[in-house]
Amino acid sequence: MSFNTFGHLFRVTTFGESHGPAIGCVVDGCPPRIPLNESDIQPYLDRRRPGQSRYTTQRQEPDAVKILSGVFVDEASGVQVTTGTPIALVIDNIDQRSKDYSDIKDKYRPGHADYTYDVKYGLRDYRGGGRQSARETAMRVAAGAIARKIVPGLTVRGGLVQMGPHRIDRARWDWAEVERNPFFCPDAKLAATLGDYLDGLRKRGSSIGAVIEVVAEGVPAGLGAPIYGKLDGDLAAALMSINAVKGVEIGAGFSAAELTGEQNGDEMRMGNDGKPLFLSNNAGGILGGISTGQPVVARFAVKPTSSILNPRRTVDRYGRETEISTTGRHDPCVGIRAVPIGEAMVACVIADHYLRQRGQIGDTPAWPFPPRAR
Ligand SMILES: Cc1cc2nc3c(=O)[nH]c(=O)nc-3n(C[C@H](O)[C@H](O)[C@H](O)COP(=O)(O)O)c2cc1C
Repeated sequence: MSFNTFGHLFRVTTFGESHGPAIGCVVDGCPPRIPLNESDIQPYLDRRRPGQSRYTTQRQEPDAVKILSGVFVDEASGVQVTTGTPIALVIDNIDQRSKDYSDIKDKYRPGHADYTYDVKYGLRDYRGGGRQSARETAMRVAAGAIARKIVPGLTVRGGLVQMGPHRIDRARWDWAEVERNPFFCPDAKLAATLGDYLDGLRKRGSSIGAVIEVVAEGVPAGLGAPIYGKLDGDLAAALMSINAVKGVEIGAGFSAAELTGEQNGDEMRMGNDGKPLFLSNNAGGILGGISTGQPVVARFAVKPTSSILNPRRTVDRYGRETEISTTGRHDPCVGIRAVPIGEAMVACVIADHYLRQRGQIGDTPAWPFPPRAR
């Protein structure tokens, strides 16, 4: 009823809110005997962590993850591995600064979820946004680190491809650059201009949206299902479940509407490895809800941060018209920290579908098939 769980066989349930003592999750369905330590998870959390550059919120959270259950040191190897039982992870909230919330506790921030929480639940935790806060997404990143270990040979990487009107030049795409600049931007030239752009926005008391692209390589062909369990459908739901995401595309996405059938359909040849070679990837690695073996490519649009300094017209919970201006610590572009979150959601969906495939079908059929007897 309350929808704090996602996934079917790789199931993640998160709990906690911005200003509670801790946030956490339970990952159920992870296969046994997979090596797992905090050090496998922490690097991914460090990429999402706030306060890492002046372009993200200055909330100071070490986001140190603890594994509470579901692991055991294997006597034969001396390595800590998963046991196949629920893996509980917890992160203490350290910097839940208490401040005066009188300015925002009764007023609704335009673009935020204050009104909808009140109208649904009859109350809301206004301290840092409570459960509306993207603080919860730290646990998705932690779960994603486990998901990455389930699918052999899987690599999931993401980058910021647009901020406001500024788009990357795809000819300059360099994955190494993503780790070198504070925007996770694969285009060094664009990244060099984004700092000044964001400084200007911040000085004006404003914020801006972004587009993130996530690419999953090493996804075996055959994951997904044709109708209700479409891989692309589950990816869209998972990415859309991230705070502030307002649009998701797979492969050519919305631009497919501009293409003809010849331009859009990815032509096939036989590759030297005996597998089909697709001559393009407008499908984003998915046909009929099932992976093709090509890279799975998803993009998502993140709206601008709603909590801004500039005064906006609104109403309060008593039905009175008023104005609101949000001071405090906010990311001027929440799309930046959405990069590791998007990667994690894609990894979780692919791990879930990998386990579903194993459950229903086991080994995929040997392809190509022998010619039919006449
Ligand atoms: C990493 C990240 C950080 C965020 N930080 C803020 C923030 O500081 N202030 C804010 O107003 N919204 C922030 N958001 C967005 C809100 O959580 C989100 O807009 C709100 O919950 C309403 O949900 P919706 O935008 O999905 O409709 C953040 C989103 C992400 C992904």
